[in-house]
Amino acid sequence: MSHRYPESAVFYRTLDRELPLIVRGQGVWLYDEHGKDYLDACGGAYVANLGHGVGTVAEAVAEQIKKVAYVNGTAFTNEPVEALASELRTLSPRELDFAYFLSSGSEAVEAALKLARQHHVEAGRPNKHKIIARTPGYHGNTLLALSASAREHYKKMYGPWLVPVHLIGAPYPYRCDPGDPAMTGEALERAILEEGPDTVAAFIAEPIGGSSTGGSVPPAGYWQRIREICDRHDVLLVCDEVLTGAGRTGTWAAVEHFGVTPDIMTMGKGLSGGYVPLSAVLTSERVIAPIARGSRAFKHAQTFSHTPAICAAGLAAVRHIKAHGLVERARAMGEVLHAKLATLVDHPAGWSVGDVRGKGLLAGVELVADRATKAPFPRSAMIAERLTAAAQAEGLVLWSNVGHADGTNGDLVMVAPPFIITESEIDELVARLGRALAAIA
Ligand SMILES: Cc1ncc(COP(=O)(O)O)c(C=O)c1O
Repeated sequence: MSHRYPESAVFYRTLDRELPLIVRGQGVWLYDEHGKDYLDACGGAYVANLGHGVGTVAEAVAEQIKKVAYVNGTAFTNEPVEALASELRTLSPRELDFAYFLSSGSEAVEAALKLARQHHVEAGRPNKHKIIARTPGYHGNTLLALSASAREHYKKMYGPWLVPVHLIGAPYPYRCDPGDPAMTGEALERAILEEGPDTVAAFIAEPIGGSSTGGSVPPAGYWQRIREICDRHDVLLVCDEVLTGAGRTGTWAAVEHFGVTPDIMTMGKGLSGGYVPLSAVLTSERVIAPIARGSRAFKHAQTFSHTPAICAAGLAAVRHIKAHGLVERARAMGEVLHAKLATLVDHPAGWSVGDVRGKGLLAGVELVADRATKAPFPRSAMIAERLTAAAQAEGLVLWSNVGHADGTNGDLVMVAPPFIITESEIDELVARLGRALAAIA
């Protein structure tokens, strides 16, 4: 049976190719209907952090569904939501003591930005409504989250529906000078002053770059400067940890590497390890206080927020991460991964590998036409897409990103395997990636 449009009844994300049908997953491996194995080197989309086939999470969800699957979060609370919020309180940056649960990263970003706005309105600052975000950067595909994202190929079509968001440069050490305002944080101060501090509600950014800058790590001092600027102008700092949170970079939240605490933090993807769709907005008493004193309700509600079944999966996943020391493992195996990926530079087919970077089990491999000048390939060469397709043929699942070099050109692939990956599986990952590079050379 064909798994392509229009033979299948599925409206696929891509309408131009046949998709393999995956029937089973175990550990870092996926298996298709013909028995071919795929090393899931990006946990799907940075989601399967625990690995595939963890029985305890599946059993916890099944048990909860048998007890009670759904209650409306306005009228009732439930055991898993209480327990999950308490667990997160022990893990998250200090002061982020309260958790609001949703189903996707985009929903968490929408809710986080709305929360920032409502905080200011109820604190008597109704003029504060503007959002500042970064380019390159990505926060989701619903309309407010997309407005705050710098993905032209997603935004172009929906431009008339998007709200204006002031985009400043993201720190991108491979392509920015150390003194660049994007690298020092100065770009944020300039943007706030340009917009008028009494009109700016929030600054949203990924603590360590996700796909958009290929795992770029900001320079020392960047996040402290950002925190100071936000404090000075009463702008809420929203750290989007949808991709980096839940241990991916070797600490529970990536922002912990930099010793600052945001006002609001989003999580998603790995929070449930992919066993159900689950995301969260974490925030502090200080942010909630004006709302608790004022209208006494967050003006945002969704049918599946705080529901028992999704929170049971999150609770089981978070307890599994803790019990198996998976955050520490992401840190240790991250070092192995980065050392082995660095060998691609000297691989016979590695002439196009310009940079390998990241933190913990988050790595970006940037491909360039000329290593000396860092000139990107022309977009028409479709290097990232071709490499991802060649890797899939080799049984290796990567995530690609394009356009980061200058808005149009730029090719990179992301490697972010489940935290349980072993050293020999990392060897296999790098070997398959080398063969894929050779196939497109
Ligand atoms: C940093 C970041 N924020 C938000 C999102 C949106 O999450 P979702 O696709 O679950 O809506 C993503 C998705 O890739 C992301 O990487």
